Amino acid sequence: MKVLMLNLFFVTFSFAQAGLLPLPDRAPSPADNPTTRAKVHLGQQLFFDARISATGTYSCNSCHDISSSGENNLRNSRKPDGTFSRHSVPTVWNSAFQNAYFWNGSAASLEDQAEGPLEEMGLGDTGRVVKRIAQIPGYQSAFAKVFPGETPAVSLPHLTKALAAYERTLITPHSPFDRYAKGDAQALDARAKIGLDLFISVGCVTCHGGANFSSAELKRFPLFPGTSYDGEAANYRVPTLRNIEWTAPYFHDGAVATLEGAVDIMARAQLNHPLKPDETAALVAFLKSLTGEPPSQRLPRLPKLSSPFGEN
Ligand code: HEC
Ligand code: HEC
Repeated sequence: MKVLMLNLFFVTFSFAQAGLLPLPDRAPSPADNPTTRAKVHLGQQLFFDARISATGTYSCNSCHDISSSGENNLRNSRKPDGTFSRHSVPTVWNSAFQNAYFWNGSAASLEDQAEGPLEEMGLGDTGRVVKRIAQIPGYQSAFAKVFPGETPAVSLPHLTKALAAYERTLITPHSPFDRYAKGDAQALDARAKIGLDLFISVGCVTCHGGANFSSAELKRFPLFPGTSYDGEAANYRVPTLRNIEWTAPYFHDGAVATLEGAVDIMARAQLNHPLKPDETAALVAFLKSLTGEPPSQRLPRLPKLSSPFGEN
C-alpha cells in the first residue's frame, strides 16, 4: 500500500510538475457569453445548418465533422467560393481549451474566431448569413429566447455567441492519459509511459503543455534545419495533441500523412533531437493515449422555412 501510494505520488508529481494536466469535464465560458442549454442547442442547430451558407451547401459540420475527428482529414478543403483553403482544417474537439485560434493564432476567442468562417459562408459578406438565418421564423423565436431584450435578435454577435457556446461542449475528457493523471496507474501501458517520460525529457512539453497539450504563444516552426520544412519558417499557434491519432494529415499544410512522420519532424525541427525508432514508437503510443471520449450527441432538428430562399 505504502509503495503504491509513493508510486502514485511520484507519477502525479512528475507530469504535473512538467505542466501537464487532465482535461476538465467542462469548459469555462466568458462572462459576456454564459453557456446555457438553450444557447448550446441553438449553436448546434447553426453548426449543422447548411442554409447558413450563401450557396446553401455548407455547414460548419461539412469541414468540422462532429461524427468523427472534428475536421475532415483533408490536406486542404474547397470553400463555398470554390477556392481551396490554404491550411488544413484544425479539429473543433477541445478548441474550447485553446486561447489562440487559426494556425497563425489571429483570433483570441471562439466568438472572434466564428466571424471568419461566417464570412466565408456568406461569400465574403456576413450580412448575407445573418439575413438567411433571419428569414427562418423558428430561428427568430429561438434567438429572441436565448438573447432576451437584445434587438435585433438575429445578429452577427449572437450567431458567433451561440456557435461558441456549442463549441464549448465539444470536449473529450476521460482519455487513458486523463485516467492515468487522476491516479489509475494501469491506464497507460509500459510503452505509453516511456513515451510520456520522453515527451517531458526531450522537451515536447515546453510547447505542448497544460490540459490541452497546446500553447497560446506563437512558436517558430521549424527552428532547426533538416526537414522538408527547411526555408519555410513562420510563426504558428501550438496545436492541441488531443485526439491526434484522429486528425491526420498533420501540420498547417497537411503535408505529413502519419503520426510517426509528424513526431520525427517535430523532434528534429523543434528540438534538434533526432529520435531512435523505438523512441518514436513510444511517443506515438503516448500520443494515442490522448484520445478521449466525445460526448454523445443527437442530430438537431432544424427550424423549417416559411418559403424557399430562391436565388441569391
Ligand atoms: C470549407 C471548410 C470549412 C468550413 C465550412 C468551416 N471551417 Fe472552420 N476552419 C476551416 C479551416 C481551413 C480552418 C483553419 C484556417 C486557418 O487557420 O488558416 C478552420 C478553423 C476553425 C476553427 C479554429 C480551430 C483552431 O483550433 O484554431 C474553429 C473553431 C472553426 N474553424 C469553427 C468553424 C465554424 C463555427 C464554422 C461554421 C460557421 C466553420 N468553422 C466552417 C475550414 C472550415
Ligand atoms: C518549440 C515549440 C515546439 C516543440 C518543442 C514541439 N512542438 Fe509540436 N508543434 C509546434 C508547432 C508550432 C506546431 C504547428 C506547426 C505547423 O503546423 O506548422 C506543432 C505541431 C505538432 C504536431 C502536429 C499537430 C497537427 O495537428 O497537425 C504534432 C503531432 C506535434 N507537434 C508533436 C510534437 C512532439 C511529439 C514534440 C516533441 C518531440 C513536439 N511536438 C515538440 C511546436 C512545438
